[in-house]
Amino acid sequence: MTASPDRVLIFDTTLRDGEQSPGCSMTRPEKLRVARALAELGVDVIEAGFPAASRGDFESVQAVAREVQGPVVCALARCNAEDIELAARALAPAAQARLHVFLATSAIHRQYKLNMAQEEILRLAAEGVARARELSADVEFSPEDASRTELEFLAQVVETAIAAGASTINIPDTVGYTVPDEFAELFRYLRKNVRGIENVRLSVHCHDDLGMAVANSLTAVVAGARQIECTINGIGERAGNCSLEEVVMALRTRAAFFNVSTGINTHRLYPTSRLVSSITGQPIPRNKAVVGENAFAHESGIHQHGMLKHHSTYEILRPEDVGLSRSHLVLGKHSGRHAFRERVSTLGFELDEAEFNRVFEEFKALADKKKELFDGDIEALVLRAEGGAGGPWQLEELCTEARNAGARATVRLRHADGRAVESAAAGDGPVDAAFKAIESATGVAVVLRKFEVQAVSEGEDAQGEARVYVEYNRRTYRGASVSTNIVESATRAFLEVINRIELAAAGARSREERLSAAPA
Ligand code: KIV
Ligand code: ZN
Repeated sequence: MTASPDRVLIFDTTLRDGEQSPGCSMTRPEKLRVARALAELGVDVIEAGFPAASRGDFESVQAVAREVQGPVVCALARCNAEDIELAARALAPAAQARLHVFLATSAIHRQYKLNMAQEEILRLAAEGVARARELSADVEFSPEDASRTELEFLAQVVETAIAAGASTINIPDTVGYTVPDEFAELFRYLRKNVRGIENVRLSVHCHDDLGMAVANSLTAVVAGARQIECTINGIGERAGNCSLEEVVMALRTRAAFFNVSTGINTHRLYPTSRLVSSITGQPIPRNKAVVGENAFAHESGIHQHGMLKHHSTYEILRPEDVGLSRSHLVLGKHSGRHAFRERVSTLGFELDEAEFNRVFEEFKALADKKKELFDGDIEALVLRAEGGAGGPWQLEELCTEARNAGARATVRLRHADGRAVESAAAGDGPVDAAFKAIESATGVAVVLRKFEVQAVSEGEDAQGEARVYVEYNRRTYRGASVSTNIVESATRAFLEVINRIELAAAGARSREERLSAAPA
């Protein structure tokens, strides 16, 4: 008789470690949208942010805690009373909350970052965890840079955190340095040498600097970890974090080897991956395992022949298992609500009636411009249903004229305060001219870092998705938009960038006002 599989908790940190990577920042409504998708996906814990990092982070954690049901909502805090109390306040509305306290332990971090001796680290860990425990029954402790920490000292820190009340001990490979055998040995060492370790849940948190985050996380599971920290599409600091979809599908596909289970509804993996890619503006590489465009494509004749005989010859996962059910079914302007609803739901999206009606209207408008609508078109419509980042400016009119010698663009924008602003500019081409006209209309001048356009579906009249990345005040901002007219999608994407800049500036202003109004 085989034992029933142990449950491994999936702790998603897309909104914290993922969001903190360059170019991945999200607005509060975007974070809420991702958090709801994570709840539907069935993750056990959502790490919603780092409240001490900024007022915006605090408010986002609070909003997720208030509005998202199902998973435990977690917030990160450094090992000091102010951070911990702030995180506890942000989590107050959550039905189930977790405080995640971290402190660096490696010699490199002790010497160069913290300038602290081992004794001081032990004292701070004990005090921090104890304070968190007073505020929450569920406390996780992470010794940052654990994989480069002296084993004996790491064991001492972990034992101290357990004695102070931590119920989850997370072992981060902060800089993606470890390798599977070494990491498994670290887990075995801790399990053998730390008093009380049998009473806590061991967790793993890997970065992908050497491309081993998923392998290292899996090996930690073999060595006793029962929680994996990961992000959708593996987004995160530098090369990213352990990818949720890859680690979950590895555990499921090789269930007989790992003998563990997760609570993930794998059919939601593909739609969730597309949602996060669309919101963060980070494209999914074509060859990305599990959710990439080519993950289920078979090009070689020998492979195609094998697949025709039986899919198991060259396919270890089925596209439908991860929610990818592409078809060559084409919709057009005569397709009705019923056919459209079926397609939206087969693609893995769940819309409420109001959202469905809005997207259906857009579908009809698009079908008037474009004869055939493919899955990519429908995905783009749904993913953009909530209209990007929001913000004060709207494009009312765009007019461009291009000749060999250059181009001119005129834009009319409407501001949320009611003003209409019109501006014209010349440029090398119509896109360049439209960007300049928007800069002159809004008074916001940026440095364009990247501009790319990609077809979202097939055919001559395919829609183009434009992505624009700019630098403004030493920060990166991005915008994206989809249209059958690429000059229009580029212009809308650029305006989304300006809107993000204005939203960030408005957030900073309201923070300053609150601070100056606060009692001294
Ligand atoms: O990589 C890391 O060490 C972290 C910790 C805060 C868990 O993200
Ligand atoms: Zn990390």
